[in-house]
Amino acid sequence: MSATPADASQGGSIDHVLTEDRLFPPSAEFAKNAVISTVEQYESLYAAARDTPDAFWRDQANEHLHWFEPFGDVCQWEAPDAKWFIGGKTNASYNCVDAHVEAGRGDKVAIIWEGEPGDQRTLTYRELQTEIAKCAEAYEQLGIGEGDVVSIYMPMTPELAIAMLACARIGAIHSVIFAGFSAESIADRNNDASAKLMITSDGLYRRGKVLPLKQTVDEALEKSTTVEKCLVLRRTGGDDTPMQSGRDVWWHDVVDSQPGKLPAKPLESETPLFILYTSGSTGKPKGILHTTAGYNLWARRTFEWVFDHRDDDIYWCTADCGWITGHSYIVYGPLTAGATCLMYEGAPNHPAEDRFWELVEKYKVTILYTAPTAVRAFIKWGDEHVDKHDLSSLRLLGSVGEGINPEAWMWYHEKIGGGRCPIVDTWWQTETGGIMMSPLPGITPTKPGSCTKPLPGVIPKIVDEIGNEVDSENGGKLCISQPWPGMLRGIWGDPKRFVEQYFMDVPGQYLTGDNARRDNDGYYWIMGRIDDVINVSGHRLSTIEVESALVSHPNVCEAAVVGRPDDLKGQAIAAFVTTTDREINDEFLKELKLHVRKQIGALAQPDDIRFTSALPKTRSGKIMRRLLRDVAAGRELAGDTSTLEDLASIAQLQEKD
Ligand code: WT7
Repeated sequence: MSATPADASQGGSIDHVLTEDRLFPPSAEFAKNAVISTVEQYESLYAAARDTPDAFWRDQANEHLHWFEPFGDVCQWEAPDAKWFIGGKTNASYNCVDAHVEAGRGDKVAIIWEGEPGDQRTLTYRELQTEIAKCAEAYEQLGIGEGDVVSIYMPMTPELAIAMLACARIGAIHSVIFAGFSAESIADRNNDASAKLMITSDGLYRRGKVLPLKQTVDEALEKSTTVEKCLVLRRTGGDDTPMQSGRDVWWHDVVDSQPGKLPAKPLESETPLFILYTSGSTGKPKGILHTTAGYNLWARRTFEWVFDHRDDDIYWCTADCGWITGHSYIVYGPLTAGATCLMYEGAPNHPAEDRFWELVEKYKVTILYTAPTAVRAFIKWGDEHVDKHDLSSLRLLGSVGEGINPEAWMWYHEKIGGGRCPIVDTWWQTETGGIMMSPLPGITPTKPGSCTKPLPGVIPKIVDEIGNEVDSENGGKLCISQPWPGMLRGIWGDPKRFVEQYFMDVPGQYLTGDNARRDNDGYYWIMGRIDDVINVSGHRLSTIEVESALVSHPNVCEAAVVGRPDDLKGQAIAAFVTTTDREINDEFLKELKLHVRKQIGALAQPDDIRFTSALPKTRSGKIMRRLLRDVAAGRELAGDTSTLEDLASIAQLQEKD
């Protein structure tokens, strides 16, 4: 059965709307002017990228990137090593700003920015170019050049994007660390990447409060052995920012006075562009490496295809630049495409729960890209915050980070999209560099909860345990069987882990770590991770990472961490711990939560911690996470428990409910 949007809204309540078989075709109106406007157009692009990838990507790269020197071969692929656009020279900062200035579009607005307190700035492409050049000039004075790693720990200000693009301008490698991570996490990342320069700000505004970022960085720098200099932006003001002489310099002292003339350096296609740390199935986050030309092209083309970008759009991606979504769809994709982007610094509920809708109305946002966890929060906060505002400028909505529940999808569609805006549910990963599967808004009938179909260049396969393609209806491991320009090029400093993690299961194919199924219409449904990775508010965390943080507390003996379903976050973090003989009380509980926060950051703080005398284990000593997941979710215990070493421990855990 399929239903039209009109059917879906019957009955008023959204609860009854069910998943699989509802189909929402794009309106004729939308399809008429779309970048990809016919199914035939998509199919011919898809077939060309699959069957003649070299010719396809040669044309794409020549048309959509600037080349200082032309490339020879399009792709050299010997799993796991991919090289794209061999021998060519380009520059991502040139593609993001100079290309537009050269083409006479320098006066177009690149970034409209609003700070949490309400301060505003706009930067044209020409102004952005000058700011990037100034920052790059300051880097050179600070001794930073091609191949050096720059760690960036900043609030969502234009300077964050400028700092990233200034690295790209001279061939330095940025490593952006989300400004919610702890000093420990910053230090780990600095040391792993041998970062030479650290950039931060005095403070960050969050819900009206000032968080002292520089203090956290100072703590991190005590343990960061390779960082030589620290560049500090004044954001929140006040005179109490400690500056260490010889190491720390103010942005306004060293950047603002530069001439702003430094041209973008021609860089070989495979020059590392950035490292971004993400959680894997072990305790140690891995530095995902992306390189210049392939990533830049992928970010641009996927942005243009999926968001149907037009010259007069006002595009807003609500992510933080600390995540891959911000890298690809606040900075590299939209700027290379010459878009006008709104950037917002603060919380969605400050000063009130209507802040996003106020921004949409004020700046006449046409494309909004956000996360299911945000949509679920908006639903909870109540429709009255939305109803206060005119959202008629919106024409397209996007979703990323986790699957969007049909209920949230329907609310987003009706309440925010006024029933007229297509929703693009975009599936991708830090590793993929950009969107891999998504509806194309002009042509793809959408089904709530499905990321629909692969983009040109993406060849998905669903395989079983031993790598054979399976009956896709039942689902299996999701792999990608041909290289694509935006794919990761490695894990920083760990080639062995790179192969083991992504290319061992099915030789020659990229293993995504997700389970998926494909329905009879060829639509893909992501079914969640196959590894010990959980998805908390659209952010990836390794359960083992949280366990390691817990056991580093002197009173914790053993810890097991699992995800449990949560209405707002998607998954919440549930921890089970065995302890030394310390008394168990609220104070201890609080202390443990804070301990994890301090070790990793606020996003890793467990929602529940349960104390137990023993963890359920198999005879071979493996923690039975499946059982713990059931206990955490308050479900009846499912499955076979005959291998349990200690059934009593389960009974004890359940008693706590
Ligand atoms: C993992 C990647 C992609 C940028 C944000 C997260 C899950 C992401 C979807 C979606 C279902 C999704 C997957 C994936 N995921 N988007 N639209 N539908 N699942 O990037 O931190 O690298 O996490 O997030 O499990 O593997 P990330």
